[in-house]
Amino acid sequence: MATYNKDALRALIKSDRVHRDYYLNPEIFELEMERIFKRSWLCIGHESQVPEPFDFVTTTLAGQPVIMSRDREGEMHVMFNRCTHRGAQICTRPSGNATRFECPYHGWTFHADGAHAGAPYPDRYAPGFIKEGNFDLAKPRMAIYRGFVFANLSEDGPDLEEFLGPMLGHIDHMVDRAPDSEVEACAGMFRYRFDANWKIQLENLNDLYHPMFTHASTTSEDGTQFRRQGAEGDEAGKVKLLKENASLNMQWEDQLIAGHRYGHTYMQSFPVDKGNSGPVYERYKAAMEERYGDRAEEAMTGKYHNSIFFPQWSIQYLTQHIRIMNPISVDCTENIIIPLKLKGAPEEMWKAALLSNNNSHSPAGMVMADDMEAWTRCQDGMQAQGHDWIIFARALGEEKIDNKGSFEALGTSEANARHQHKAWLHYMCGEA
Ligand code: FES
Ligand SMILES: [Fe+2]
Repeated sequence: MATYNKDALRALIKSDRVHRDYYLNPEIFELEMERIFKRSWLCIGHESQVPEPFDFVTTTLAGQPVIMSRDREGEMHVMFNRCTHRGAQICTRPSGNATRFECPYHGWTFHADGAHAGAPYPDRYAPGFIKEGNFDLAKPRMAIYRGFVFANLSEDGPDLEEFLGPMLGHIDHMVDRAPDSEVEACAGMFRYRFDANWKIQLENLNDLYHPMFTHASTTSEDGTQFRRQGAEGDEAGKVKLLKENASLNMQWEDQLIAGHRYGHTYMQSFPVDKGNSGPVYERYKAAMEERYGDRAEEAMTGKYHNSIFFPQWSIQYLTQHIRIMNPISVDCTENIIIPLKLKGAPEEMWKAALLSNNNSHSPAGMVMADDMEAWTRCQDGMQAQGHDWIIFARALGEEKIDNKGSFEALGTSEANARHQHKAWLHYMCGEA
């Protein structure tokens, strides 16, 4: 029932608006899985989630179950969580340590590197039917960059470094803020779903038009939420952003919003990201100077607030987390929020980052609950007839676009979403 040929896809995207079917139509969702998610480098997580030999975590890759594991020698593997006998998932635990995976159905076993270890009572198979290698777990293409683990369901297409291009520097910026030049995912994760299309969240992360309204009760000192959060006692100054959100509305029009080829976008850091003070900060500064010398100040100076790696994950620098955004269906998305510890930085900073993540990005976190309410309202409201178009006309034409596919815009412009819409069309028409 391929009713969406290239002309029909192009008809959904106009320079200043997109058709509501972009978010609502299950056929579009199926095509997105084929043409975007099965052809992009997707973030699985961070290798520090499996620090020891035989550690593993299970997750999904464009809806397909996968295991990220470390073998006896410490090598990383990403493999499909699918028994090569009759297809059962071999592991359903979210994480753990296992020298072997045993399928619960008929007991076939697999090593931590995915190699088939054996099938019970093999003599009833024809001689030579089960031989070394022919029933190993299948694996997608995998790449690791500075500890972040990626996989790609397509055998061809750009390698990770070409796909991320200038966005590699955004990963470096996160990792280089650690005095040991390493980050660590050692506090677990938040994992939850909301009832809205994946693209609504992606359009929102660098949307400066919404915070003063969506987050009014969280960010305003008169708001009911702000009084409950205890921001004043936070020496590392993380959650005070919530307060500053309210007072900086007009300054936001000077914030840089920009992006690169393949649909990636980012937002410049807020003033609150840039400076800090106090005894904890001084210890951090000393550790950075010892590690980086003259380059310490540059590494510590915030460049970005939020970087979105199209189509599926982001780094938020202020609260120090990555967010993996897995589409579940046309109207449901899973978020995995993984806080990152800056190795070598004072412990107090890590505690403040975790507190800040709890406050803002847990399922009931103040910022997140506001946003999820707005996104699900969009998904529900778009069901109404009478207006078929979703409007992205703000500051249209003011953005600077170069011939390499990058753009720059300011403040509450909706240029970031327009950039994603163009990238979406390229992928969907096979032109990315
Ligand atoms: S399905 Fe796994 S052993 Fe049969
Ligand atoms: Fe928001």
